[in-house]
Amino acid sequence: MPADEPPPLPPNAELAVIGRSVPRLNGRDKVTGATRYTVDIAPRGMLHARLLRAPLAHARIRAIDAGAARALDGVRAVVILAQPGDPLSGMVRYAGQPVAALAADSPAIARAALDLVRVDYEALPFVVDMEDARASEAPPVYAPGTAPAGHPSGFPAPAGLARHGNVRAAVIDRRGDVAAGLAAADVVVEGTYRTQVQTHCCMEPHAIVADWTEDGLTVHMSTQFTAGIRHELAAAFQLPLSRVRVVVDGMGGGFGSKSTLGTYGRAAVALSRAAGAPVRLVLTRAEEQVDSGNRPGTFQHLRIGARRDGTLTAIELTSHGTAGVALGAGVGDFAGAVYRCPNLLTSHRDVFTNAGPGCAMRAPGNVPGAFAFEQAIDELAERLALDPVALRDRIDPSPVRREERRIGAARFGWAARHPPGSDRGPVKRGIGMAQSHWGAHVQINAACEVRVLRDGSVEVMSSVQDIGTGITTVLAQTVAEVLGLRAEDITVRIGDTIFPSGPPSYGSRTTASITPPARTAAWRVLRRLLAEAAQRLGVAPDALIARAGRIIVRDDPARGLAFGEVTARLRTDSISEVASRADDYAGFGQRYGDAATARQDLGGVQFAAVAVDTETGIIRVERVLAVQDCGRPMNPRQIESQVHGGILMGLSYALFEDRIMDRHTGRMVNPDLEQYKIAGPYETPAIDVVLLENYEANSATDAYGIAEPANIATAPAIANAVRNAIGIRMRRLPMTPAAVL
Ligand code: MOS
Repeated sequence: MPADEPPPLPPNAELAVIGRSVPRLNGRDKVTGATRYTVDIAPRGMLHARLLRAPLAHARIRAIDAGAARALDGVRAVVILAQPGDPLSGMVRYAGQPVAALAADSPAIARAALDLVRVDYEALPFVVDMEDARASEAPPVYAPGTAPAGHPSGFPAPAGLARHGNVRAAVIDRRGDVAAGLAAADVVVEGTYRTQVQTHCCMEPHAIVADWTEDGLTVHMSTQFTAGIRHELAAAFQLPLSRVRVVVDGMGGGFGSKSTLGTYGRAAVALSRAAGAPVRLVLTRAEEQVDSGNRPGTFQHLRIGARRDGTLTAIELTSHGTAGVALGAGVGDFAGAVYRCPNLLTSHRDVFTNAGPGCAMRAPGNVPGAFAFEQAIDELAERLALDPVALRDRIDPSPVRREERRIGAARFGWAARHPPGSDRGPVKRGIGMAQSHWGAHVQINAACEVRVLRDGSVEVMSSVQDIGTGITTVLAQTVAEVLGLRAEDITVRIGDTIFPSGPPSYGSRTTASITPPARTAAWRVLRRLLAEAAQRLGVAPDALIARAGRIIVRDDPARGLAFGEVTARLRTDSISEVASRADDYAGFGQRYGDAATARQDLGGVQFAAVAVDTETGIIRVERVLAVQDCGRPMNPRQIESQVHGGILMGLSYALFEDRIMDRHTGRMVNPDLEQYKIAGPYETPAIDVVLLENYEANSATDAYGIAEPANIATAPAIANAVRNAIGIRMRRLPMTPAAVL
């Protein structure tokens, strides 16, 4: 650790601000409507943009004529996104794919102008169903040689792809000898699990306001990564980074769908450049669901071999996933990463379909992966007449996860679990549990500035964005802790690339990545303040500490100066320090966007209690308990709130959400929030969250994100509870009344 790094933090119990449930600093603005979202940005002379989307699922574009649209009064710019004849952009591969964009004086004119764009399509055969797409006679989604090498969002495609028609196969992980492991097993459980496509439904739809001027480009965008968007824009429009500014204030979630610029973002900037005016483009709810990415559906075949004592001898996972027209629909590493097993073969096949591209969504891969695998482990426990918790304790090498299960089982009342299907009466109750697993990542490229001004006020600045998860408050807490102030004394300036480059808000890494440089910067500023105060008080700087708004002598707390008295004597108007997360990872590559894995076994266990009405088929989740490891809980209330969100999203996935495609038209038939059901207040169970404090002192704050882990165990815990209630194993999502009856 470099000499100008602060020492590790003590446990939360010894801290004044960190670890406290400080109310959200921006909470009042959020609930009173004062928060400014991207859709609220309206620069003078702003134009309104719309995208023209193809109505066909597969077509060759012969010609586009936008003459009549351009001629319409009030239309200021038209950008053609599809080039007829081009093997990539000249092809429509899913219904809803954008082919042109235009900007007009009003939304009504933009809408009217869309109808005037003439597109000559040559319709081609298409396939929207994964099973259909695998067939050898299925229409190819991509002609040979035109398929993308990776996902447009940058989500990594599996390495070593083998191609066959619409299928791209890759081995995820391989060790030992699976055939020998299965032969040596006393028991083999085998099953096929299916999961549906879950569409992104951010509370705030995707939105951008682009303003191209001679001085440079300013973009307001609802994004999970301002610094990343800036890089993308600079590259796409050949601008120096210094002439690109990306800003976001309030945000209503992203969940993985707002990580990159996207076609709509590029179109808005191109329109602004063409029109010489600011342009706003906001996706409608239907556009959001069809074309902002989705969690791919999967088809997973599992074989698990075990000895009589539960020891695993073999794991074999053969999975398929639909990423639509993109790659990267994996099932993650769940099957191979959680339990001890010497023989393993996991492989995955991405299947192209004529549907909107999949993309990252909250714990991508591991959510469908855990749904299958954690049920198979329960099935194994049943076959071996072992308790599901006891079996996991036997095969899970992680002491943290074992501790989570121990705490959870005691608190949830696991001991009262009855044998499957033993309830009498039409409403049957059951309980189940499932393990989650996720790695904790930190972004290397994460910088933060802390500035103390002459009047004693303090600013913390970074381009990091608050997507709704609460980093604003946590940053204030981090800096306040160091400076001996209150969180509300700190002015947080984030979500703007004029500040030092912050981390993305994806991969559950915001808090882990930005709080260490914030703390380091504050600590370096404090050292300068202590030197100033030491001179005035006639003591050594290391005899001083900052506490409760004062700089005081540690061994004589009555002696000291108010924080503002020290800053009033500064020789400059302010002092500031910038710290970067790169400092404490000197050994890693320093490429832009690099991330490192800080911990492999960030766990999390969930227990669920359900009541299944065997006359209506309705599953009601009554209670969910989550025990979640989070390193250092920086703000317990905010973390609990995020775990609530993870559970609700998981419950919604388990019971309701389902993208339905029409095989005859190739379109999504339920792109709205009426026919696409999302869990609401009525379906919300009682939720209990236990946070496991877990300090390793291996980072400057020891804090890890839990956004993704909190979403992994819910669906399998509910499925295992349903099995316990009615004796039926739910191998397909969503778990609808029809599946129960
Ligand atoms: Mo998330 S899928 O890392 O936004």
